[in-house]
Formats: sequence, structure tokens, C-alpha cells
Amino acid sequence: MKRFISGFTSENENRPKKRDLFSSKVGVIAAAAGSAVGLGNIWKFPYEAGNNGGAAFILLYLFFIITIGLPVMLSEFVIGRKSRSNVHGAFHKLAPGSKWPFVGYIGILAAFMILAFYSVVGGWCIQYVIYAVSGTFTNGTSDEYCFIFNNFITSPIRPIIWQLLFMAISAGIVLAGIKKGIEKYAKILMPLLLVIIIILDIRAVTLKGAMEGLSFLFKPDFSELTGVSVLEALGQAFFSLSLGMGAIITYGSYVNKHDNLSNTAGEVTIADTLIAILAGIAIFPAVFALGIDHDQGPGLVFVTLPEVFQAMPGGFIFSVLFFTLLVVAAITSSISLLEVVVAYFVEEQKMIRRDATIIATALISIFGMICSLSLSSSVKIEFFGKNFFDWLEFVSSNILLPLGGLFIALFVGWKLGKQKVLKELSNEYTINAPFYHVFIFLVKYIAPIAIAIVFLNGIGVLKYILMIFK
Ligand code: TRP
Repeated sequence: MKRFISGFTSENENRPKKRDLFSSKVGVIAAAAGSAVGLGNIWKFPYEAGNNGGAAFILLYLFFIITIGLPVMLSEFVIGRKSRSNVHGAFHKLAPGSKWPFVGYIGILAAFMILAFYSVVGGWCIQYVIYAVSGTFTNGTSDEYCFIFNNFITSPIRPIIWQLLFMAISAGIVLAGIKKGIEKYAKILMPLLLVIIIILDIRAVTLKGAMEGLSFLFKPDFSELTGVSVLEALGQAFFSLSLGMGAIITYGSYVNKHDNLSNTAGEVTIADTLIAILAGIAIFPAVFALGIDHDQGPGLVFVTLPEVFQAMPGGFIFSVLFFTLLVVAAITSSISLLEVVVAYFVEEQKMIRRDATIIATALISIFGMICSLSLSSSVKIEFFGKNFFDWLEFVSSNILLPLGGLFIALFVGWKLGKQKVLKELSNEYTINAPFYHVFIFLVKYIAPIAIAIVFLNGIGVLKYILMIFK
């Protein structure tokens, strides 16, 4: 029996030529959707939308998902399956002797930075499972939930312990290989998470005063958008779909040659976007009905949802289930980040898988600890008004991922060549690739130009460039 991702297992650590493949099409989708669906959908998307004015941000986000996210995801699958390599090795193989492999370094740096703060938030979720189990969310006010959250994340030691546990679990899975059991569980647990979110949605939209939240979500006011919020929407599209740093290249390298890449990319994108929107519907009606600040940032979900649980029958069970599944969703994402670094260490630095995993985990955990401490009231590490946590998040999502995505699109659109792309999309001309021309057009022109404009505008450089042309 083939393993879920046997490319993850130690048995082929020194035989990179004999990379094994995902056992089935469902396996690919489960792994890629597992990577995409995570804290980005349930924790980050709602607070980004809340900070950036709601509906206008969401519409832009959807627009970027379709015009940039989907084509970049397909590009990553093409690069990965064609090269059957890690991020760095993939460019090396497909463009030998060129400078392209530096895109791999952007990816590895991004993986480090993202995992550093991701593991901190993953640790918060573990703490919230414990709060839920001990009945903390049965009778509190939003002020109390706010206090519990702030008190917890600013304490120096407790969040670090959970963060390290989160990293250890991720490392354990990457090290051991994702066994058949986990494939089976993920296939049950992720749909269960979806069901719970839908139940939360029903409760949230039937709260008194929910309408205001729905109109915040769906009635756009474009005057609220700034250059930075457009960049945030782009960064969020990349972050949520796990794009721009080679996670999908790495997973793509384990995809079977008979799988239909276009369909896979489409299905993963739809699942991921659906879950983000449903999470927004669970949160904003409640935020407005309960008078919670919608622009409070990373604490939004942790302060709002406890109140929703409290206001529903069976809230105790639902809160335990929800936070447990959130931890599972976060783990299936974090392993994809860790795998990018580990695959690189194994294939390019010729380390054995165990050492690669231990070294990557240790290095990232050190960054993660600094990141967690930067929130602590006693330490406070800040530059230019942002703490280390916010910096890691901003630079990785809004700078490194769009840059990585830009190069990935350019690579497929201009370097790889139409014929090679068509061959890959059509599985050597055995299946139809009806959207092939649209895809080439998007990766060749639309995605790179759009990313460049949004990026230069977001970092405040565009206005100077436009001045030159005036
Ligand atoms: N997409 C995941 C989420 O939404 C996070 C993630 C996993 C990620 N792998 C990634 C983000 C690669 C960017 C790049 O939670």
C-alpha cells in the first residue's frame, strides 16, 4: 500500500530519483487543501477583512484569487510535477545554469518567517482547546474574553510552551511520514470542520443585530481602500492558498502523472475560498451584534467566537470540537511549510531526513519564541510601531509571497515555454486543457503586471514612478 505522501518518509531520503507519489487524486487534494485551509482562513482572513473595511477588501481578495491565485497555484503544480524537486532544485532542473533558483531562497526564507508566527498562533489554538474543555466559554462577557486573550498572549512562558508543542507535533508528522491513518482522519475531520463552521454561521446570522455584520461583509465601500489594504488583500490571497513560496511546488512534485492539474488547482481554490467566506459569516454578524471592535487585529476570532459558543445550545461541545479541529487544520498547513525547508535540506544540502527536520524545527522554533516574546508585556520588541510578530507577518505575506508569486508566474509564462506547459497540463496530450490559453495569458501578462502594480503601490513606491512619467 502506498503511503499518503511517501515522499515524506525516511525510506527514500537518499534516493531522490525514486520519489514516490501521492496514493490517489483524493490524496493530492487532501494534502493541498490541508495546506491551504488553516489559520489563514479562520484567524487571519476575518481580522484582515475587519481591519481593511470589510466587503471592499473581500471583493478585491476574491478578484485576486481568480486572476492571480488560481493561475499561480497551477503554475506551482506545473513546476513541481515537471521537475519532481524541492523549491530550489525545481528551478535548477528546469532552468539549469540560470539565476532562477534564487526564487527557491525567497521561498525558504518565507517558510521560516511564516512558520515562526504561525506556530505561535497554533499554540494559542491549543491553549483555547484547553480553555474550551475546562468550560471557560460558558458565561463570560466580551470584555472578559478580551482580557483572557490579552492576558494569555502577553504572558512570557505559557504561549511558548504551546508553540513548542505545536512545532513538535508538526515535526513529528513530517519526520514519520504522513501515514494512511492521517489521510483517513483528515478526510473526515476537514469536512467536520466545515459542518461546524456552517452551524456557527447559522447561529451568528440569527443573532439580534446580525444584519449590520452581513452588510459590512457584503456591501462594499471602496472609499475605505488604501494602497496598503490592496496589498494586504493580495498578500492574503497568497497566504490563504499557500502560494508564492513553493509549498505547492513541493507537493506538486509528489503528484501522479495521470492527475488533472487544472481540476486539482480549481478544487483546492474553491474549498479554501469557501471556508474563508464561511468563517467571515460566522464572525462579523456576531461582532456587530455583540458590539465588539471589528478592527482589533489578531485577537478577533479568539474574542468573538467564545461569545457565539456561549449563545448557542451545545456550545460547550461545539467549542471543544471547533478549537480541536482548528489545531488539526493548522497542523496540516504547518507541515507543508516545514516540508518545504526539509525537502530543500535533504535534496540540496544532502542531509538525512531526521537531521533536516530537527535542524529546521529548532531554528524556526527560536524565531517563533522571539516572536511570541515580542508580544509579552515585559519584553516588547518594536520597530517603527510594529512588533516582531507583525513584521514577520507583514513582510512574509505582503512582500515575500507576492514576489515569489511574481517570479513563479514569469517563469511559467516566459521561461518554460508554451509547449512544455501544454504538455504538462494535458498529461502529454491525453486529456483536454480547455483553459490553457487563458492560463498562459494570465501568467504571462495579467498576474505579473497586477502583482507589480499592487506591490509598488502598497510599499509606496508607485507614486514616485508615476511622477517620472508625468
Ligand atoms: N495557507 C495556510 C493557511 O491559510 C498557511 C500556509 C501553509 C501557507 N503553507 C503555506 C501560507 C505556504 C503561505 C505559503 O493557514
